[in-house]
Amino acid sequence: MILIASDHAGFALKQHLVAFLANLGHEVRDLGVESERSVDYPDFAHRLAAAISAGDADHGILICGTGLGMSMTANRHPGIRAAVCHDAYTAEMARRHNDANVLCMGGRVTGPAIAEQMVAIFLATPFEGGRHRRRVGKIELERDGEGS
Ligand code: RB5
Repeated sequence: MILIASDHAGFALKQHLVAFLANLGHEVRDLGVESERSVDYPDFAHRLAAAISAGDADHGILICGTGLGMSMTANRHPGIRAAVCHDAYTAEMARRHNDANVLCMGGRVTGPAIAEQMVAIFLATPFEGGRHRRRVGKIELERDGEGS
């Protein structure tokens, strides 16, 4: 199961990727937006990140104009590692080294062909583990009421 969401600036690319993923046989849950009417990207980033944080799915895709606002918002959620990617290399490294679970991209930056490539690589690439597990383990901040 892959979750996907966008704001108005990412709507067209989201629609494209929903069809692309379905064609590849993936189960996709589209969390909105439903049109190009102007909305606030944090509403959709919070929706998707909360669902992944709760364990509803392992991976998500967030698209706004640049990918930046979506990633900033999603990364506020525990256990979310949202990476803005621009090409095959950043998408691969986001998985291999950073164990990213949310792929963010910009509908005003990235065309559909590169977006397809990034999504395919992101979903197919495993986390390398090893020294990267130690580093990824240092990302998360301890929250009030957690830890010993
Ligand atoms: C909307 O105009 C734009 O600001 C938004 O899609 C996004 O790029 C924010 O990071």
